[in-house]
Amino acid sequence: MITHDVLVIGAGLAGLRAALEAQWQGADVAIITKVHPVRSHSNAAQGGVNAALEAGDSWESHAYDTVKGSDYLGDQDAIEICVREAPQDIVELENMGVIFNRDETGKLGTRNFGGASFARTYFVADITGQAMLHVMYEQLMKEQVRVYEEWFLTDLVMEDGACVGVLALEIRSGRLELFRAKAVILCTGGLGRVFEPSTNALICTGDGMALAYRVGAPLMDMEMVQYHPTTLKSNGVLITEGARGEGAYLLNASGDRFMSYERYGATNAMELASRDVVSRAEQTEIDEGRGIDGCVLLDCRHLGDELIRTKLYQIWELALDIANVDLTKEPVPIRPGMHYQMGGIKTDVIGATSVPGLYAAGETACISLHGGNRLGANSLLETIVFGRRSGAAAAEYAAARDFAALSDAKLRDEDARIQQIMDRPANGERTAALRLEMGQAMDRHVGVFRDEAGLQEVVDVLQGLKERYKQLPVENRGKVFNLDLVFHLELEFMLDLAEVIAVSALDRRESRGAHSRTDYPERNDDEWLKHTLAAWSADGPQMSYLPVTITRWKPEARAY
Ligand code: FUM
Repeated sequence: MITHDVLVIGAGLAGLRAALEAQWQGADVAIITKVHPVRSHSNAAQGGVNAALEAGDSWESHAYDTVKGSDYLGDQDAIEICVREAPQDIVELENMGVIFNRDETGKLGTRNFGGASFARTYFVADITGQAMLHVMYEQLMKEQVRVYEEWFLTDLVMEDGACVGVLALEIRSGRLELFRAKAVILCTGGLGRVFEPSTNALICTGDGMALAYRVGAPLMDMEMVQYHPTTLKSNGVLITEGARGEGAYLLNASGDRFMSYERYGATNAMELASRDVVSRAEQTEIDEGRGIDGCVLLDCRHLGDELIRTKLYQIWELALDIANVDLTKEPVPIRPGMHYQMGGIKTDVIGATSVPGLYAAGETACISLHGGNRLGANSLLETIVFGRRSGAAAAEYAAARDFAALSDAKLRDEDARIQQIMDRPANGERTAALRLEMGQAMDRHVGVFRDEAGLQEVVDVLQGLKERYKQLPVENRGKVFNLDLVFHLELEFMLDLAEVIAVSALDRRESRGAHSRTDYPERNDDEWLKHTLAAWSADGPQMSYLPVTITRWKPEARAY
């Protein structure tokens, strides 16, 4: 048995920031991560991180934009905390060594981003997440925080209703280990790969969300899945909103900037309306026959070679390598693609879940900063602000407690469960095939537009997949780097989460933010200005509701 005061699961930005803070507060901290920290998905965040730090901007303006972007489902107390603390966290990042782009006067530069009434997005070209992640990892090494790299979390350990540790598999050796802790912080990122395609890395399988759900922590607002407006058709790779922030256009097959059409409600902001609005407009253009081969076009040509090659060089390379398009010379075909889960494990503003000893931060948590639709560049911000807060809270919780007395029985039971899976006879089914069926059904029916028939169909598909999963074999019988086993265990998590998303989407009979029901096309504040909560049961998710916290911004009609 391995023992640490605080265990952080996941080494993306939220995890690294949580671990640093807990260590600074005096806890003995360790990180358990499925991949090397700098391979975490935060690495893929391109466009920037928001804060109201410029003269003329204000936290109130940032908060209002976030509330409006959330379609009034975001909890305004959490939003206020986040945007008020954002400036100090950006300065801290800069002091740690993140080399943000500068303006012509040498001050930190900003760019426009969707749904924002002020240019408040700080950026490092179009590799902001990568730059932040590497600097945060340097801090971690400086502080000599223990990292268990390439360990896969298989379960949370519970005692008297509290989380007191985890079970994890060392991928390199196949050894299962019991980790005892006073507090556990889940920072396992999103669940993007429940959908196919997705902008998310293959590792984004919602492990923490699924395990928290199983031990009784409810998942909140899981129907709120963001489709990013600009992803490449062939593989769903992200083309940053920073391109539109720098002035790129969206065009339909006739060459029209369709965001100017009155019907899309964004005649002022155009391409820089919030993501839900832009993705719906694109999908409508495509569905009504004004697209090109299932896409619309992103046109960067007028931005000029120099800007593209300096501030947008990663997407210039991606478009060239993947779509064979030189952004300086021609528009690139793009379409809305699954990008982000606004929902997650319900937490309070210090990351505490309803399970004592269990905390969550980053995309895996739902503090309710994003409500029905996240503003671009608010997610990197969330990782830093709420990573820090959850690290501090978990360290304080741990300081006031003793370790639980644990026997090795839990380890033996988990070993036996995994061995049973390994012993299943081959039956011709492959994990990858089930995963693809799930992902494609989710993309088809739980995408930009949804309706009851499609959602019910996906629930039925998922039930069939869950039945088949019970007999699904692991082909690779080895111990060392058995990724077949890891993918198998991940799929169980993903099937649970897919079901929660589909059932929550069926339940919310209105349209709000990213949840757009063609059979209930209006927002309905009278009945649905509330959070959905999904609790685990043997019969599937049990739904209940929570009021939205409104401090000062009453719901209004949204236009951009
Ligand atoms: O478009 C982007 O660069 C994505 C940013 C985000 O999701 O925050």
